[in-house]
Amino acid sequence: MFDRLREDIASVFERDPAARTRFEVLTTYPGLHAVLAHRATHWLWIHDLKWPARVLSNVARLFTGIEIHPGAVIGRRVFIDHGMGVVIGETAVIGDDCTLYHGVTLGGTSWQKGRRHPTLGREVVVGAGAKVLGPIAIGDGARIGSNAVVVKTVPPGATVVGIPGRIIECEQDADRRRRADTAARIGFDAYGATRDTPDPVANAINRLLDHIHHMDSRLEAMSRALEARGIMDHFDHDADLDAAIIDSPSAADSPAVAVPTAPHGGAPPSA
Ligand SMILES: CC(C)(COP(=O)(O)OP(=O)(O)OC[C@H]1O[C@@H](n2cnc3c(N)ncnc32)[C@H](O)[C@@H]1OP(=O)(O)O)[C@@H](O)C(=O)NCCC(=O)NCCS
Repeated sequence: MFDRLREDIASVFERDPAARTRFEVLTTYPGLHAVLAHRATHWLWIHDLKWPARVLSNVARLFTGIEIHPGAVIGRRVFIDHGMGVVIGETAVIGDDCTLYHGVTLGGTSWQKGRRHPTLGREVVVGAGAKVLGPIAIGDGARIGSNAVVVKTVPPGATVVGIPGRIIECEQDADRRRRADTAARIGFDAYGATRDTPDPVANAINRLLDHIHHMDSRLEAMSRALEARGIMDHFDHDADLDAAIIDSPSAADSPAVAVPTAPHGGAPPSA
């Protein structure tokens, strides 16, 4: 029991730079209290003491603001940072070394009994306010950005942002991130807006703009040729289009995303 408590406290130090002393962590981290209380409620639950388990989990919720159903299965060194507003459903499974921030819901989308909550692999990070809904699997090392709503299975190592959640980073990129010193220390940008994680909607719009820009130039060239032969009047190129771009955190700064051949930082029109 004390070994597990020691590793729980160690995991807080690994993942929260604000943690100062063991005593402080033990006495002031509601996420830690909630996980410890869940260990007791889960024991009661699996020993068929359902009502005491529910009562104790409600008391823990009262003090921590974190609601973990006693039936949920939670692995080792799981850290819930800040905690308030976290809801973890009855059939949810959380793998070892996962990190959850405040406002996270691991919830169901149906009223039927049976498996209806998500299963998180190992080392998954779920950003503040994110909702992971339904009996879906979140692969090892995946990251869910703040406020994302994830309703579909996520492969290992992927990063998901937005509503509904979209994958913006795959396992290969995640490997690159793991190799970076800072990433290994901090592990996660809770806002899902790092330099190498572009906004997928902005990217798609930029690609469309690139395509329109390309078509516009071709049309203008054709128009000039027709005008020279007296067939039609001159086609006015829309100069406003040249400046049109949706700014995304990475499109402007990151060489990993900006594609040099495309005028607006997205992929070339032929891509
Ligand atoms: C919105 C909701 C009612 C839709 O349920 P549904 O009709 O079964 O929808 P599906 O799962 O078939 O999804 C239909 C589409 O909506 C999208 N979608 C589902 N839920 C979504 C949500 N919350 N936000 C945005 N998009 C959502 C899906 O991605 C899917 O898109 P696609 O057709 O492009 O693939 C449900 O997903 C939901 O969010 N329920 C609330 C659950 C909740 O709050 N639980 C908390 C328990 S503690």
